[in-house]
Amino acid sequence: MLQACSGKGRVAEEKNMERENTRQGIQVKNLHKSFQTGSERTQVLRGVDFTLAPGEFCAVMGRSGCGKSTLMNILCGLERADDGMVFVDGLRIDTLDARALARYRREKIGIVFQGFYLDETRNLIDNVAMPCGYAGVPAKERNKRAETLLKEFGLFSERKKRPSQISGGQQQRAAIARALVNHPRYLFADEPTGNLDEENTRRVMELFQELNQKGIGILMVTHDTAVAECAQRIVKMEQGILVSQSV
Ligand SMILES: Nc1ncnc2c1ncn2[C@@H]1O[C@H](COP(=O)(O)OP(=O)(O)O)[C@@H](O)[C@H]1O
Ligand SMILES: [Mg+2]
Repeated sequence: MLQACSGKGRVAEEKNMERENTRQGIQVKNLHKSFQTGSERTQVLRGVDFTLAPGEFCAVMGRSGCGKSTLMNILCGLERADDGMVFVDGLRIDTLDARALARYRREKIGIVFQGFYLDETRNLIDNVAMPCGYAGVPAKERNKRAETLLKEFGLFSERKKRPSQISGGQQQRAAIARALVNHPRYLFADEPTGNLDEENTRRVMELFQELNQKGIGILMVTHDTAVAECAQRIVKMEQGILVSQSV
C-alpha cells in the first residue's frame, strides 16, 4: 500500500519536474544503472546527481570500472538508465525513443572517444562531414563545414588522407572536428587523450579550452590529473555516485 502510494507520488513528482523544466544546461537526477552478467547483477550507478551549467567545462575522474563510461553513455543516449532522469536544455532524454535519441545526438551533442572511431574507408573531409549527411545538410555545405574545421584544426593539408595515414593526435583532432560539424551545444569526451602522447594531449586540451571559450559545454572523463585540471571543475565518481570537488 505504502509502496503504491510512494510510487504514484514519485510519478507525479517526475511529471511536474518534466513540465516545469525549462532550465538550460544538463541536470542528472538520481540516476541508477546495473548490469546483469550471468547470474550476477552489478550495480554501477547508485543515484548520480549532477549538473552541468550551459557553457561549463567539467572533468569526471574516478578509478577504473567505477562507472564513468556508463554515465557518459547514458548522457549520450547510447545506453539506458534503470531509473532517474536526465534533462538537456529542458529536454528529458532518458525516456526518448530511438529515433528521437538519434536526433538528440545529431543536433545537440558531439561525442569524442578514446579510440577516435574514424572510418578508414573515407578521407578526412568525408569523415568530418559524415554527421551532416544524417542531418540532411546539402553536400556543398557539408564539405565547406568540414574544410573550415580541418583548417581551424591544422589538418587542411591532410584532408584527402585516410585516418591510418595520419598520426594519433591528428586522428583525434579530426574526430573532434567531426563531433563539432553540426554545431552542438555540448561535447562529451570519454578519455579523449587516453591514446595520445604529451604533446598531442596538450594540443587537444588547448582545443577544448578554445571550444569552451566559444560557449560549448564540455563533460570530459579522464584518468589524468593534469588533463582534468584544464577543466573549470572536477567531480569524482566514488561508489556509484558523483562527489563534487573544485579545482
Ligand atoms: N555492457 C556491460 N555489461 C556488463 N557489465 C558492464 C557493461 N558495461 C560496463 N559494465 C561494468 O560496469 C562497471 C563500470 O564500467 P565503466 O562504466 O566502463 O567504468 P569506467 O569507465 O569508470 O572504467 C564495470 O564493472 C564494467 O565491467
Ligand atoms: Mg571508461
